Amino acid sequence: MGTRRRRVSVIYFISKLVKWDDLRMEIISNPTQVEIKKAAQALKDGHLVAFPTETVYGLGADATNEKAVSSVYSVKGRPTDHPLIVHISSINQLDKWAVNIPKYAIKLAEEFWPGPMTLILKRGFIAKDYVTGRQDSIGLRVPNHVLALSLINEFEKFGGIGIAAPSANRFGAVSPTSAEAVKDELGNYLHSKDLILDGGKSIIGIESTIIGCSRDYPVVLRPGATTTEMVENVAGVKIPVNLEKNEIRTSGLLEAHYSPKAKVLLNKLVKPGDGFIAAQNIKTPKGAIRLSSPANIEQYANDLYQALRSGDQKMLKRIVVIPPTGEGLASAIRDRLHKAAAGYSTL
Ligand code: TXA
Ligand code: MG
Repeated sequence: MGTRRRRVSVIYFISKLVKWDDLRMEIISNPTQVEIKKAAQALKDGHLVAFPTETVYGLGADATNEKAVSSVYSVKGRPTDHPLIVHISSINQLDKWAVNIPKYAIKLAEEFWPGPMTLILKRGFIAKDYVTGRQDSIGLRVPNHVLALSLINEFEKFGGIGIAAPSANRFGAVSPTSAEAVKDELGNYLHSKDLILDGGKSIIGIESTIIGCSRDYPVVLRPGATTTEMVENVAGVKIPVNLEKNEIRTSGLLEAHYSPKAKVLLNKLVKPGDGFIAAQNIKTPKGAIRLSSPANIEQYANDLYQALRSGDQKMLKRIVVIPPTGEGLASAIRDRLHKAAAGYSTL
């Protein structure tokens, strides 16, 4: 046998010995306390752990480890000037990360944490540029999910202070609401020691409400399940509507986002072969492929991202969506749909 052929067969033999699946990250379904501890240790060692929250799945890293946080940016393909939300175990951890916290922010945290609300506060010294995208502020949230809270608590036992976690999708794509969706999004980018914790489907299904706390009153920067009305009631102020819209524009959040590969079209005429998402009481147009028929607004949010993903799995070119009407969660859903459709259509 010639040297070259011998080399080829050695490479072939070695490739048979390596189980390629072993080189991939591990998915742990319904993890036990021991497995959660192992995941917390992985975070402390600088690896990434994707975990469920009540909103969407997050891609977690030790928020005080620059190298780990930079892996989050590279796995997501996200520009480094987009800040990450740091997930903490309770309101007691707030002043580890933030300073000059307004009274209304404390009230909001007391009322809505754990829950789908992120507060943007003036950052403390622990919050470094690599996690804040060089902003002077820090995003903080206590998620309302047993598994997420358990992970953060175990992480704290190892000396961790917070888990930085953006939604566990590639930049600009649809947020994952299941472990399977995380694997589809990031499986090719995660490393062998990274983990995905599977805690079932996220109950809310769209990302947290983001509240800017740099003024005398709160400003809703991204609507979510903690509605503007709920925030106003607790903070005891009326949030000016125009200001709310302006802030969303100036923070550059109106670019295309939350987008599947298929074109998302809002309130457009349906062509045969299009995907179709609308409330249950709206009939499927002839030739359309129904992707979701939510019976109420909570179901609409809960099913939306999975429905958009299923359009891609079916290799559809277009998905026509009839957005929900109304305020509260419905307006948060419309916000995501506008962004998913940005560049294709407007309402
Ligand atoms: O529900 C959620 O919020 C999920 C789960 C995993 O917690 N996380 C999430 O993270 O949606 P992400 O990174 O995909 O979206 C967070 C948004 C980004 O648009 C980011 O720019 C904004 O929050 N953000 C975070 N920190 C900020 C800050 N200091 N100032 C302004 N915006 C901030
Ligand atoms: Mg995101």
